[in-house]
Amino acid sequence: MRSVIGNILGFVLLTLLSTSVNSSPGVVFVPPITSPTSTSVRTGKSVQNVTWDVSNPPANITNKIGTILFRSADFTTLLILADNFDILLGTIEITVPWVLTGNDYSLNLIGDSGNFSPNFTIIQAD
Ligand SMILES: *[C@@H]1O[C@H](CO)[C@@H](O)[C@H](O)[C@H]1NC(C)=O
Ligand SMILES: *[C@@H]1O[C@H](CO)[C@@H](O)[C@H](O)[C@H]1NC(C)=O
Ligand SMILES: *[C@@H]1O[C@H](CO)[C@@H](O)[C@H](O)[C@H]1NC(C)=O
Repeated sequence: MRSVIGNILGFVLLTLLSTSVNSSPGVVFVPPITSPTSTSVRTGKSVQNVTWDVSNPPANITNKIGTILFRSADFTTLLILADNFDILLGTIEITVPWVLTGNDYSLNLIGDSGNFSPNFTIIQAD
């Protein structure tokens, strides 16, 4: 009985904790990526802009420094496409990775918290 109550208390505490973390008002900024989109077709090794919507930033952003990681088939890879830029820029040039042709590549824009682009297509460069 005690452990059941302990479990319930633990669950309630965890729920309260996660709720309070999630509800801290206007601090976590998750700007949606606006390019590439699901219909984008990019060629490997080309230089392209990644863009994201910065129209509604909160007053206080805990981490203004952005990083873009490359994703393949739903996995975030260790490949850094851009780093150390201001998340409020809204655009950054990257060099598209030299990879095999595929239609399930995506990006992870990390600032305050992570945000994935849709899957897009990369054509293998010569
Ligand atoms: C990326 O955007 C910047 C600013 O809008 C522009 O000057 C630059 O030419 C763009 N780069 C590419 C590769 O389109
Ligand atoms: C932002 O942070 C400053 C300093 O910590 C604080 O005075 C201000 O009230 C905060 N604003 C918001 C909207 O949270
Ligand atoms: C991206 O492609 C993967 C397959 O590699 C699929 O599992 C996933 O659902 C796709 N994501 C989106 C947002 O369509």
